Amino acid sequence: MAEQFDVAVIGAGAAGMMCAAVAGQRGRRVVLIDHADKLAEKIRISGGGRCNFTNLNTGPANFLSQNPHFCKSALARYTPQDFLGLIKRYRIGYHEKHKGQLFCDNSAEDIIAMLKAECGLGNVHWRMPCKVSGVSHGEGGFVIGTDAGELHAASVVIATGGLSIPKIGATDFAYRIASQFGLKMIETRPALVPLTFDAEAWKPFVDLAGIALEVEVSTGSKKTGGAFREDLLFTHRGLSGPAILQISSFWQPGTELTINLLPQAALGKQLIEGKGSVKKNLGNVLAQLLPSRLSAGWLARNGFDAEARLADLQDKPLQRLGDSLNSWQVAPNGSEGYRKAEVTVGGVDTRELSQQSMMATRVPGLHFVGEAVDVTGWLGGYNFQWAWASGFAAGSSV
Ligand code: FDA
Repeated sequence: MAEQFDVAVIGAGAAGMMCAAVAGQRGRRVVLIDHADKLAEKIRISGGGRCNFTNLNTGPANFLSQNPHFCKSALARYTPQDFLGLIKRYRIGYHEKHKGQLFCDNSAEDIIAMLKAECGLGNVHWRMPCKVSGVSHGEGGFVIGTDAGELHAASVVIATGGLSIPKIGATDFAYRIASQFGLKMIETRPALVPLTFDAEAWKPFVDLAGIALEVEVSTGSKKTGGAFREDLLFTHRGLSGPAILQISSFWQPGTELTINLLPQAALGKQLIEGKGSVKKNLGNVLAQLLPSRLSAGWLARNGFDAEARLADLQDKPLQRLGDSLNSWQVAPNGSEGYRKAEVTVGGVDTRELSQQSMMATRVPGLHFVGEAVDVTGWLGGYNFQWAWASGFAAGSSV
């Protein structure tokens, strides 16, 4: 006899554990299935091992989606303060690092242990590691084929996440189930990912690898693009750091990024004004504003003599030099891909889902939560907040 459950949650990551715990604590008989050997690897490696578990400033504007209003309901019903309430109840130490980003003081393991304990309070049944061979309609709901036998459930929640980091168990399971049931998908691509450049074009910048500085980066139009002021990191293959990870979610292949390497100064104007002081030389002025390796490299690349006195230089080339740093246009040729991406943009089209319950409106009983859905947060704890909020929404209604 196949075992009967009210709810089968497939994927025991952030969204799946939250959903299973909430449903279980409502008295639902829940089974939580995951194919991995190790529980919630993505939580474990997140935030450099300290899990940036939420962002105090979370709002719908911090998410990308073809349907930007969709996330509002779930985010409003389960807020960063709600998750923080849970963190405090479990006496997990945390701190704010940057722009509302909350991290564990100790380790991401604390979050995993907390969610596991919450599942325990809901008497959640575990099947892990356990491979799922398929989900189909059956008597009174769904039949889930697994390598531990068949399970029956009135509702199924797909919480198997996106495609990033296949090495730790990411699969396209959610997308396959969505298309099996005739649900539309939004095309997926890696996001929050370092960007790469054509090797030949990048040659002049290779020796800048390791330099980090605060920049302003933007791409696309006002409506569809993004703009961020964060740290950028030069790498051997291209650009990384929070500024680039953020903009990578908005960047479209074939388009350029505009990077202001000196957002605190209108450099051309400053250099021209500096001509009044006879002693100033170009190299010294720039080295006061930029990391010295970057300023020396930039001057050489643009044909300027670092020893030249400002007073001896014409306004036009000084303005050109200023513009090259205040508005550096670069065209990445790609990204480091899912191997390095923190998240996947796109996924199950939210127009197929109820924003209250995350249920597919055309397939009663079938739900999608977390990163599998076309809702992608910025860098900074927003993706976990979406996982908690969407997991809570489904867990409250199944
Ligand atoms: P998640 O990926 O957490 O869980 C999916 C689960 O489904 C996994 O346990 C997997 O094993 C299982 N699964 C997959 N396919 C299956 C199948 N076919 N059968 C059975 N089980 C299957 N976000 C943030 O807000 N703050 C942060 O600090 C970070 N840091 C970070 C660092 C790195 C390196 C990465 C890769 C990602 C982040 N993120 C992040 C993003 C965050 O980890 C991510 O958005 C959430 O974990 C998504 O939660 P889900 O529950 O949707 O998927």
